[in-house]
Amino acid sequence: LKMAKTNKNLNNFFNTHKFLGSFKSYEDIPFSSIRNECCFIGRSNVGKSSLINAITKTKKLAKTSKTPGRTQSINIFEISEKINIIDLPGYGYAKVSKVMRNDLRVLIENYIENREKLNQVFILVDSKVGIKNSDIDMLDFINSCSKKFSVILTKIDKISNSHIDFQKKSISSLMKNYKKSFEDIYLSETKKNSGIIDIQKKIYDMSEQNEI
Ligand code: GTP
Ligand code: MG
Repeated sequence: LKMAKTNKNLNNFFNTHKFLGSFKSYEDIPFSSIRNECCFIGRSNVGKSSLINAITKTKKLAKTSKTPGRTQSINIFEISEKINIIDLPGYGYAKVSKVMRNDLRVLIENYIENREKLNQVFILVDSKVGIKNSDIDMLDFINSCSKKFSVILTKIDKISNSHIDFQKKSISSLMKNYKKSFEDIYLSETKKNSGIIDIQKKIYDMSEQNEI
């Protein structure tokens, strides 16, 4: 029986984790990874840090906040010594200065472009808000770097099933523009943890593909 098939083993896998550090810029990360990495990006407040906590079955591994702009650096977490998960700052938050917004975008883009073992970008979209221009810019950037990505529609507890279907369809149709980079669409919410297992399985499968 494959490990990913049993939820208990999946939880054990994700429960074994370690905080490797928090870095103000891509150049500050003192180590390159020998393992596969995946990162979580998206507009400010979309639920990146909350999702990382749901995946790792913790409350406070990644710092969350009601007010946008909570995560300001690159935070690296190691799972079962097999794969790294990276929490990144949000982009597109209107209330910070233009300079600051640009700095955060550069930080995210440098990480995505240069980190060699990064082989999956999870781009989170608030299901109530939908895709914004800042998301399209980021998708174009990921595509230009030839990195693989998946979309996660977050906070589905806040909208109706028909609205979820609508968002899913409109994103699927947009993904026709990203055929070489796009992989999957996921739905999630972190109150009752719907959809978390599917994301865990994706990350677990990536950890099995380490070249070491
Ligand atoms: P930044 O680091 O500031 O970019 O934000 P983030 O994307 O990391 O968001 P964070 O996880 O801090 O969550 C932002 C807010 O959304 C918090 O108040 C969370 O409680 C809330 N939130 C996160 N996930 C969900 C969800 O699935 N459903 C609902 N209803 N709220 C959520
Ligand atoms: Mg955050």
